[in-house]
Amino acid sequence: MQPTPVTTTNTTRAELAALALRAGRTPFYVYDTAVVDRQLAAVRAALPPTVQLHYALKANPLPALVAHLAAHVDGFDIASGGELAVVLATLAAGARAAVPRFGVGFDVGFAGPGKSLADLAAGVAAGVLFQCESVRELQAIAAAGTAAGRRPRVALRINPALELRGVGQRMGGGAKPFGIDAETAPEVLRLLATLPVEFVGFHFYAGSQMLQASTVVAMLEQCYACALVLAAQAPAPVRVLNLGGGFGVPYFAGETALELAPIAAALERLVVRAATDLPGATLVLELGRYLVAEAGRYVLRVVDRKRSRGQVFLIGDGGMHHHLAASGNLGQVLRRNFPVTLVPAAPTPPVGASLLAIPPTEIVTICGPLCTPLDVLAESVLLPVAQEGDFIVVGMSGAYGATASPRGFLSHPGPVELLTP
Ligand SMILES: Cc1ncc(COP(=O)(O)O)c(C=O)c1O
Repeated sequence: MQPTPVTTTNTTRAELAALALRAGRTPFYVYDTAVVDRQLAAVRAALPPTVQLHYALKANPLPALVAHLAAHVDGFDIASGGELAVVLATLAAGARAAVPRFGVGFDVGFAGPGKSLADLAAGVAAGVLFQCESVRELQAIAAAGTAAGRRPRVALRINPALELRGVGQRMGGGAKPFGIDAETAPEVLRLLATLPVEFVGFHFYAGSQMLQASTVVAMLEQCYACALVLAAQAPAPVRVLNLGGGFGVPYFAGETALELAPIAAALERLVVRAATDLPGATLVLELGRYLVAEAGRYVLRVVDRKRSRGQVFLIGDGGMHHHLAASGNLGQVLRRNFPVTLVPAAPTPPVGASLLAIPPTEIVTICGPLCTPLDVLAESVLLPVAQEGDFIVVGMSGAYGATASPRGFLSHPGPVELLTP
């Protein structure tokens, strides 16, 4: 049998060595824009052309990546003044031509509970669409608008009464700190009608990391039905109906990719219905991880290889302080391994050196440099026997990586982040 892994490893080694040179050190994240483009193309091909696609910056707010996405999406979803600053800098740098102002063709939705007064003022100045999360916030948005001599655009974020199975993280249904319960929304709409704000529509975000198309379809249909009931009580026609998204990606062994075709069909039906139910309304989806997760790799090096009572531990120069999700501490109930590969730093024997070229393997646990048992990047994985200096590559790392990790913990340096064409 041809020892194909050796060839693959050599290619990857050269690529990683070049990237490490570019980064100047390990650990680093590298994001492949070609993979982002592939995901964008898949979603665009599936979505009805009138459905707008927004990128949720929380998944990965790296300015260079946001600039790349700006040219391909219809808007952004932000959740803080910091994310707004990234968007404004990106657009000011000309990442997207012809953005006359938000709300015309390209929009920026500002969601998230507990927006500060400073963030509200910044949002008013920028002309964002506020996805309003509470009565207090509605009043504060109106006050910020009055102070600035502007009429802020507002959509109510609704927490619908739905119960879905197969949602990785639930942000809607039941008691939640997000949005306004659908039952109390009519009252809030009456208040809104008395305030100096412009009602634009409704926003839903019921949950993320859904891997079953049927779950996404049920979510979309139930949120749409909820919006329809509320639209009848709104002070103005609905012009924007943001149905969220929650498209999941397969992180772990045994998981399969989300099927887009049934979601596309459901959206087609909703677009047709909306033309009659909500004339003039635009449907919006806001996706984060689906667009960027697969594009990212987190690359670290083996600092130490040690044995403890029969088990082999590889200690890397990176860990949970850079990649909390891979350590299993970002909301996972059961810890599972992200895809991990080991790439020798030294060249492996040339192909043709026969079967001897197949490297010996062993079962290892990969840990980071933090003094906590939580700092595990992969547990009991079968890998080629590692040497100090070898690369460890954690795949599926483009979303909720660097900025979703406790980077200050133990005061190690942060990771470098690179974008490849
Ligand atoms: C309001 C909102 N929009 C969009 C997203 C993006 O989710 P995902 O990255 O799973 O697509 C989230 C995730 O928490 C969210 O809370």
